[in-house]
Amino acid sequence: MPKLLSAVILAAGQGTRMKSTLPKVLHPVAGQSMLSHVVAVARLVGADPVVPVIGHGAERVREVLSDERLCFALQAEQLGTGHALQCAEASLEGFSGDLLLLCGDVPLLREVTLRQLLNHHRETEAAITILTAQMDDPTGYGRIIRGPAGVERIVEEKDASPEERRVNEINTGIYLFKAPEVFAFLCQLDNLNVQGEYYLTDVVAAARWSGERVEALLVEQAEEAMGINDRVQLARAGVVMQQRINEAHQRAGVTLVDPATIYIAPEVTIGTDTLIHPGVHLRGQTVVGSGCELEPGVVITDCHIGDQVHIKPGSVLAESKIGNSCAIGPMAHLRPGTVLAGHNKIGNFVETKKAEIGEKSQASHLTYIGDAVLGKNVNLGCGTITCNYDGVNKYQTIIEDDVFVGSDTQFVAPVTIGRGSLIGAGSTITKDVPADALALTRVEQKIIPGWAERNRSKQKQKKNQ
Ligand code: UD1
Ligand code: CA
Repeated sequence: MPKLLSAVILAAGQGTRMKSTLPKVLHPVAGQSMLSHVVAVARLVGADPVVPVIGHGAERVREVLSDERLCFALQAEQLGTGHALQCAEASLEGFSGDLLLLCGDVPLLREVTLRQLLNHHRETEAAITILTAQMDDPTGYGRIIRGPAGVERIVEEKDASPEERRVNEINTGIYLFKAPEVFAFLCQLDNLNVQGEYYLTDVVAAARWSGERVEALLVEQAEEAMGINDRVQLARAGVVMQQRINEAHQRAGVTLVDPATIYIAPEVTIGTDTLIHPGVHLRGQTVVGSGCELEPGVVITDCHIGDQVHIKPGSVLAESKIGNSCAIGPMAHLRPGTVLAGHNKIGNFVETKKAEIGEKSQASHLTYIGDAVLGKNVNLGCGTITCNYDGVNKYQTIIEDDVFVGSDTQFVAPVTIGRGSLIGAGSTITKDVPADALALTRVEQKIIPGWAERNRSKQKQKKNQ
């Protein structure tokens, strides 16, 4: 039978040093909250249930992570890390197995490290295994105090003697415990320390007193254990996280020109041979196909982009679906509900919204397509506008296959343009157009010979008077 694993994530603290109205664990690292990174790594090692202990800003945290199937525990008053774990006890009633303790403000921890910790814990059959790190400057962290028989206790910086402060093996705040046994040790804690808190770290000494085995495993890369307390550390963690994400894409066959300037959210996927230029942001659940080129300053949020798509500089796309071999931009704005079937050209200063556009149709310049359905091979001339809104309601424009629209045309919706028809440049179309017709609303042109010259002479005379 597989060994059971559950995870508790401490996330109730206020995070005063962030100086923020947002709870600390909701601050984003590489586009995702710190807490969701921690939840993700807990899931990767198979923890179930995952129990975040929340307190400060609890409602907001619950709301932001509502999709994650989490089993929240509430710590109404923050009496210390030991008390926080106690608050999770009820959520783990009946659970027997390994309990992984994580911190909501340590977002860089990797799956491999947790697997090593888990293996070590299981091989040694320890009651507690602590993840430790070697720090050049251990200031602020709890120190690992070892004796002849291994780890004896953890002492917090504020409670440590000068000699203990010189120890640079520190407690990362990540542990594996045997559950439910750990809860018995928690009951023995007191808060007789400098901070007047119930320290989780004190379970180590308690376990040793009862003759239990306590193990420590040193993390290979100390940066993984970095706890985020202020916005300087937040930015540092963001850089590390982004570098990891970008390197994974590079190794999987994506070319990143100057990766330090490219921001890719953790859940984005990208096909091979896609080329990404500096200053590109790929956000949310975006999927990019293979053989694409994303030029500088492209920002894409929650889009599905096909293969061989070329997006030129400064284009912004959100909640849209782009078929294969499209060319977009420069400076195009594709808003939610845009669907391009494939082989489309959407040129400079074109804005689309709730627009379904059939194969090979194009709008090359200065156009607004909103609440519209376009068939195949439609050509929209420069300056085409769908007038979709009368100030109260939105209406749809339908343009069927093979329609050619001359420049500077307005479609006053609702209106349907039949297949194969032609709209003369400068028209304001207010009525449906049947298939294969020519529609034209131009006012007849007037010519007054010599008028301009006469006008210039008049102006000159006026000036000379
Ligand atoms: C803790 C450890 C310290 C370790 C360090 C690593 C203790 C007593 N000390 O210190 O040994 O080196 O982490 O980063 O455990 N929290 C709650 N409820 C509380 C108090 C804290 O949920 O009542 C949460 C915080 O939100 C945070 C985590 O627990 O996510 C750690 O708390 P924090 O106050 O930052 O502990 P440190 O002083 O950093
Ligand atoms: Ca901390």
